[in-house]
Amino acid sequence: MSEISRREFLAVTTSAVALTALASEAAAVEVLPESNAVSPSVASAFAANHEIKPLAFDPAKLDGLSEKMMRSHWENNYGGSVKALNAVKQKLAAMLDDDSLPAYIYNDLKREHLMRTGSVVLHELYFGNLGGTGKPDTAIQKSLIDAFGSVEAWDKEFRRMGVGLGGGSGWVVLGYNLHNGLLENYWQWDHLHAPSSTLPLLVMDMYEHSYQMDYGAAAAKYVDAFFRNINWESVSTRLEKVLKARVVWLTGGIR
Ligand SMILES: [Fe+2]
Repeated sequence: MSEISRREFLAVTTSAVALTALASEAAAVEVLPESNAVSPSVASAFAANHEIKPLAFDPAKLDGLSEKMMRSHWENNYGGSVKALNAVKQKLAAMLDDDSLPAYIYNDLKREHLMRTGSVVLHELYFGNLGGTGKPDTAIQKSLIDAFGSVEAWDKEFRRMGVGLGGGSGWVVLGYNLHNGLLENYWQWDHLHAPSSTLPLLVMDMYEHSYQMDYGAAAAKYVDAFFRNINWESVSTRLEKVLKARVVWLTGGIR
């Protein structure tokens, strides 16, 4: 049995009681009476309360990625998207109350909502998987071997995809697909489009603002530097969480 499949099996068997309790709890949830409804500006789907998360590492100590570039990226690109997302959600709440507003105009802002959400989430995952030694632990290596045949094959594909996005924009994502249980590398050319039912484990930003300040157009050198700074412990923690989510996906009647 493969490493992931074995883990899934163990997780399924040990989580059965907990899932039963969870299902009972869910069944007991009652629909709130209308009097308890909250206004759009307060409800979580419209609340403009996203906050900029601080870097979890010292940007002055990365190998080959300058503090100046990291701080600029974090503050201007990521921070800018957080502020924009809040502004968009605030505006959506107000626009929803305007019954005379054409739906297609409302959807213009929903597109911005989608884009800013993608930017915020992917940047938080990106910064979250930096600051490490670049050396995957044994468990991660086994997962990569199981999925790609060898760590080298995974490494080769991930790097090649990054270099291929050089000079343009996009993301390279090692993701776990909850629907089919596959660990794969995904090419994403913007913040809006991502593989269905997939949770990111390792995210590499390939927008030019990620490397231009340090490497100019030499995207491959940035990819090398990114690999030297991967926080594989963070990736490992994400994989553990994802495998638990896969258990719920398989046993919770989601699909
Ligand atoms: Fe970025």
